[in-house]
Amino acid sequence: HSIPVIAIDGPTASGKGTVAHRVADKLGFHYLDSGALYRLTALSALRRGTDLADEHALAKLAEHLPCSFTGGNVILSHENVSDAIRAELVGNTASKIAALPSVRHALVGLQLGFRKAPGLVADGRDMGTVIFPHAPLKVFLTASVAARAERRYKQLIDKGIPANMEDLLMDLQARDDRDTHRAIAPLVPAEGAHVLDTSHMNADQAVDEVLKWYAAAM
Ligand code: C5P
Repeated sequence: HSIPVIAIDGPTASGKGTVAHRVADKLGFHYLDSGALYRLTALSALRRGTDLADEHALAKLAEHLPCSFTGGNVILSHENVSDAIRAELVGNTASKIAALPSVRHALVGLQLGFRKAPGLVADGRDMGTVIFPHAPLKVFLTASVAARAERRYKQLIDKGIPANMEDLLMDLQARDDRDTHRAIAPLVPAEGAHVLDTSHMNADQAVDEVLKWYAAAM
């Protein structure tokens, strides 16, 4: 495959969304926020009242997601759901249904379709391990639970949303635990991935590091 992919995986609130987005901007590449696809599936299921134990029904929803990504917005059946998919309930539901093999399988084709010239930066949990295993650059972006909780706390407070540090820590740990220990596509650094711990780094420093690795890989 000649279209380059930069696969960036990592845990919740590791800053990979921000970093992946900026790297894509700098290189003029397309950007895939794969977590948004799990969140969209979760949002659809919650709204329709789909039984969250009905793997078949959830996979069907995922397979036929009427979604599009335009101008940085996430659209579901003509509705801008960019904010709605960021709700904590949607994120938690996403992380639960993401453990279902049929749901993951149903979203593969959609994700592969994002690989378009001149290149793609893909952000998620299994970009380097499952979806784009031959990506010329794989990055595993991480940070301590404390650093990630603090970032999430700041984000929420900045948005005027009340937040509680203890709840955030517990929630992060629960989600890490689910993503890391699930049987299918668990969150682990891909073979050959560069591991970047951003606990003591800002986003620009992380972006520079990724761009350096990319230049060296090409
Ligand atoms: O990255 P984000 O927090 O938006 O992802 C929401 C949830 O979707 C994650 O907690 C994870 O369980 C799941 N996910 C996944 N594989 C991906 C991206 C996200 O399982 N590639």
